[in-house]
Amino acid sequence: MPQRIVAGNWKMNGSRALLAAYFAAMEQAWMPLRRCEVLLFPPALLLSEALEPAAALGIGLGVQTVHPEASGAYTGELAAEMAVDAGAQWTLVGHSERRAACGESNEDVAVRAAAALRAGLKPMVCVGEVLTDRRAGRAEDVVREQLEAVLATVGEDLSAGAIAYEPVWAIGTGETASPEVAQAMHAVIRDVLRGAANGLADVPIVYGGSVKPDNAAALFAETDIDGALVGGASLDAAAFLAIIAAMETHGNP
Ligand code: 13P
Repeated sequence: MPQRIVAGNWKMNGSRALLAAYFAAMEQAWMPLRRCEVLLFPPALLLSEALEPAAALGIGLGVQTVHPEASGAYTGELAAEMAVDAGAQWTLVGHSERRAACGESNEDVAVRAAAALRAGLKPMVCVGEVLTDRRAGRAEDVVREQLEAVLATVGEDLSAGAIAYEPVWAIGTGETASPEVAQAMHAVIRDVLRGAANGLADVPIVYGGSVKPDNAAALFAETDIDGALVGGASLDAAAFLAIIAAMETHGNP
């Protein structure tokens, strides 16, 4: 069985003050986790501040991207080795906002996943189609290509990581993919993983795109939806806790 994961991506939001208030609220209402692993991807500058309170609750930490090289003249970039040194266990790679705004190609995403794995960082590889792809009936092909580029580079090593299916049209729009639409794509992703190498059938596949407390349980009830990558709602401790609770109570055992 794949590990269940509920992850929060703070994107470029937050401050030391927000982080302190957030963890204080989390501690107040924390539940012992039986089914899922909880991860937080704050801005890298807040990572050191998050180490202690996250460890106290058993929350894993990650960064939002890494550079393919281990060091060098890359002003403004962060190496996977540095993220490990700072206490991260995970990194996102290929988030659609980076694909769109920083021009990251499928190959760029693949080398970042490889760099993360070399450094001992688990990559959560983000894939997802834009609305025009979906309307043109190309959603599956786009997601397959995104995934296959990573698999061609890292192969079986991806067993240490996870996939996040985030349809771009559902991110930050309030328009969630229906559980059926999300499940259909998760099944495609599971098929690609299973066909690619031994040991990849159990890679967690989480859904992202306007996940909120009121839609999480229905998504988590689907066979191949192993959790969520939550953006906006993860900035609110109560909302994020409610999504974690949905996984603890409604997700597949
Ligand atoms: P929202 O939950 O704000 O739609 O963001 C999803 C996302 O991009 C998580 O990485």
